[in-house]
Amino acid sequence: MQKESWNSMSIILVTLSFLFVFIFSSQDVFSAPSSRHLCLPEQRDALIEFKNEFEIGQLNQFCDSGQPKTKSWVNNSDCCYWDGVMCDAKSGEVVELDLNCSRLHGWFHSNSKLFRIQSLRSLDLSFNDLSGQILWSIGNFSHLITLDLSNNYFSGRIPSSIGNLSNLTNLRLHYNSFDGEIPSSLGNLSHLTSLDLGGNNLVGEIPSSFGSLNNLDVLEASSNKLSGSFPLPLLNLTKLSVLSLSSNQFTGTLPSSLLTLPSNWEFLNLANNQFNGTLELGHISSSSQLRGLFLGNNNFRGSIPISLSILVNLETLHLSYLNTQGSVDLSIFSHLKSLEDLDISHLNTTTTMDLNAILSVNKRLVELDLSGNHVSAINKSSVSDPPSQSITGLTLSGCGITEFPEFLRTEHEMWFLDISNNRIKGQVPGWLWTLPNLFL
Ligand SMILES: *[C@@H]1O[C@H](CO)[C@@H](O)[C@H](O)[C@H]1NC(C)=O
Ligand SMILES: *[C@@H]1O[C@H](CO)[C@@H](O)[C@H](O)[C@H]1NC(C)=O
Ligand SMILES: *[C@@H]1O[C@H](CO)[C@@H](O)[C@H](O)[C@H]1NC(C)=O
Ligand SMILES: *[C@@H]1O[C@H](CO)[C@@H](O)[C@H](O)[C@H]1NC(C)=O
Ligand SMILES: *[C@@H]1O[C@H](CO)[C@@H](O)[C@H](O)[C@H]1NC(C)=O
Ligand SMILES: *[C@@H]1O[C@H](CO)[C@@H](O)[C@H](O)[C@H]1NC(C)=O
Ligand SMILES: *[C@@H]1O[C@H](CO)[C@@H](O)[C@H](O)[C@H]1NC(C)=O
Ligand SMILES: *[C@@H]1O[C@H](CO)[C@@H](O)[C@H](O)[C@H]1NC(C)=O
Ligand SMILES: *[C@@H]1O[C@H](CO)[C@@H](O)[C@H](O)[C@H]1NC(C)=O
Ligand SMILES: *[C@@H]1O[C@H](CO)[C@@H](O)[C@H](O)[C@H]1NC(C)=O
Repeated sequence: MQKESWNSMSIILVTLSFLFVFIFSSQDVFSAPSSRHLCLPEQRDALIEFKNEFEIGQLNQFCDSGQPKTKSWVNNSDCCYWDGVMCDAKSGEVVELDLNCSRLHGWFHSNSKLFRIQSLRSLDLSFNDLSGQILWSIGNFSHLITLDLSNNYFSGRIPSSIGNLSNLTNLRLHYNSFDGEIPSSLGNLSHLTSLDLGGNNLVGEIPSSFGSLNNLDVLEASSNKLSGSFPLPLLNLTKLSVLSLSSNQFTGTLPSSLLTLPSNWEFLNLANNQFNGTLELGHISSSSQLRGLFLGNNNFRGSIPISLSILVNLETLHLSYLNTQGSVDLSIFSHLKSLEDLDISHLNTTTTMDLNAILSVNKRLVELDLSGNHVSAINKSSVSDPPSQSITGLTLSGCGITEFPEFLRTEHEMWFLDISNNRIKGQVPGWLWTLPNLFL
């Protein structure tokens, strides 16, 4: 008995040490074995010189930890061991450079030694303090799969040579100061799945060549100065699920097939533009997976489309400034049982909105903006049937309210409340200041 159990114990130990050897040796394959110096001398020198092109500056405000990765970069050590550097196990070439949040400060020069590391498959310089222009020679990194230059101070045009990076799947240029037009050559990047150009100064239209980005899943181009009408070629992209064109200068009407095409829409953000016309959304498929629809702050006219009521997965719906010029049918929203965030402010409607009724029907609603509409008096008797959810944000500016919404007394999760421009008489009730999360 004793012997048998001892035997099985050794078997376990032997198995464990095999496993250990296996794990240990397989790790060796992916990084560098200490016996072999994988790093190519010319790439090591290029990296050291690249490091010396920049100063160590302030930590980007969005980064948690501030240890600059290039601190571990010292000459005469194997560069495949340096922080943020990954080498190919076979060739020893540097294939990944991940220098996000590394406090790199300075100007990116045309003769940067980085351009000597043409074996790169992934380059991440995000969340630094880099400025200068992205050069034409970026098109020489022909093996790149991921390029992330986001959250820096890069400026100038996006070079059309990026369209030569034929294996690129992720291109992240957001939150810089790029200007000029989006190069149409980006439409050549047939493997691209995610493209983020948001938060720049880009002008012009979305190039029609984008209609060939057949693998595109996410296109984010918000907060630029883009114009023109809704880019129709995008409707041909069957894999597109997230589209954000918000806060630009787009004009014209929306295509009636926008939500009816067999599409994978999950988030569609067209807010803060100058789109106009009526919202004719046709027969939306009941299998729609749309979770966020943002159409607010445009120049739309007419009624809220009844077809919206089929979007049962919708969590966020923003329709502010839809100029309804008449009555609105609030029962449309009663079908949207997943709704958490509803903005139907400034609808120019004659309909009086019953806050309590909306909150009682849409039981998941925690953010609501009814500003600029007439909201029926929220009096003490309505407290007898208080909404069951915990409201986190309520905006009732200019709603003609005459009494303080008493039911808010128990809304301990609420962190945002705007009840300005109403006709509430008397003092602000003392309980308001006792709400623990309120940020006034
Ligand atoms: C690194 O060290 C090698 C050998 O000492 C030397 O030839 C090379 O110039 C150095 N590189 C840099 C960038 O200082
Ligand atoms: C950026 O770096 C931080 C810390 O260095 C890390 O936690 C984060 O995942 C990185 N982000 C990306 C997108 O690589
Ligand atoms: C991009 O590709 C074209 C055609 O293959 C070539 O003429 C051009 O030099 C390339 N540009 C870069 C920067 O590699
Ligand atoms: C990029 O490639 C072109 C040829 O396509 C070459 O003339 C140029 O010198 C390269 N640029 C750099 C910085 O290596
Ligand atoms: C692109 O990816 C394919 C498949 O991984 C590879 O065979 C090819 O060499 C890559 N092209 C470049 C220019 O790196
Ligand atoms: C790349 O895009 C440009 C501009 O859209 C086009 O003229 C060129 O033919 C494309 N090149 C390839 C190889 O597809
Ligand atoms: C969409 O694709 C079809 C054929 O696949 C083509 O005829 C049509 O012009 C394309 N539409 C747009 C807007 O690019
Ligand atoms: C939409 O605005 C454009 C100008 O941007 C105008 O020409 C067009 O008539 C408007 N359409 C509607 C339906 O209001
Ligand atoms: C609001 O709607 C009324 C009709 O109910 C219309 O006369 C008025 O022009 C609209 N206001 C605006 C700012 O469009
Ligand atoms: C108070 O609210 C109830 C239910 O919402 C309503 O029927 C009643 O008319 C309101 N009373 C006043 C004085 O506004």
